[in-house]
Amino acid sequence: MEKRTELYRGKAKTVFTTDDPERLILQFRNDTSAFDGEKVEQLDRKGMVNNKFNNFIMAKLEAAGIPTQLDRVLSDTETLVKRLDMIPVECVIRNFAAGSLVRRLGVTEGQALNPPTFEQFLKNDALHDPMINESIAISFGWATAEQLARMKQLTYQVNDVLSALFDEAGMMLVDFKLEFGVDGDGNIVLGDEFSPDGCRLWDKETRKKLDKDRFRQGLGGVVEAYEEVAARLGIAL
Ligand code: TMP
Ligand code: ASP
Repeated sequence: MEKRTELYRGKAKTVFTTDDPERLILQFRNDTSAFDGEKVEQLDRKGMVNNKFNNFIMAKLEAAGIPTQLDRVLSDTETLVKRLDMIPVECVIRNFAAGSLVRRLGVTEGQALNPPTFEQFLKNDALHDPMINESIAISFGWATAEQLARMKQLTYQVNDVLSALFDEAGMMLVDFKLEFGVDGDGNIVLGDEFSPDGCRLWDKETRKKLDKDRFRQGLGGVVEAYEEVAARLGIAL
């Protein structure tokens, strides 16, 4: 597999083309960003940890029947993935109240949400990822009603699989964000990444934060927390 040109540089990952038009390389960098790129720092080992974390989670989801873009790991920080046309709609499920939900509604952090909530945000840093809904996404042509329905169904499926996985390892999956794309056959496929950068994970007993909120809130021990989550899941780093 030959790495060719840089296609896209995100806040934490760079995407490269390859000699195969159907395959891309995701490179996980140490850059850590919060508040839509307002706060950025380099955190040692984070690229490697997130790459291995993402591969472990995507393989679990594939095994559970959820289509993902994962192909194979290439190095500590690089993974080969299927090329997708990404849909700019971020799907968020919350099992417990935190983050923007607490700010928006003034509810208590940690309040259990039964059933879990489902929200959609437009992927647009300049606009700070505004909350949208299905009607808006359809009217602007970002996705069809069928695609949005499939994304919602898959996001709930991911929640079932991963809530159980983290629960068994002594953690609460508080909330998470997924991004989807369309493959060459028109199927909706899970893309981007699943790592502690894009979800909230708390220790079940102490409610200690083990995710990117440690960086957002300046709590320190960011990568150490990610490594602790990986160790609890049995991910070899
Ligand atoms: P929020 O509480 O800021 O709306 O975020 C909900 C979850 O989604 C949280 O785990 C962080 C994740 N998320 C991202 O990773 N990137 C984003 O751009 C957004 C809007 C949320
Ligand atoms: N991922 C977004 C950012 O970099 C939002 C966040 O995680 O706070 O800036």
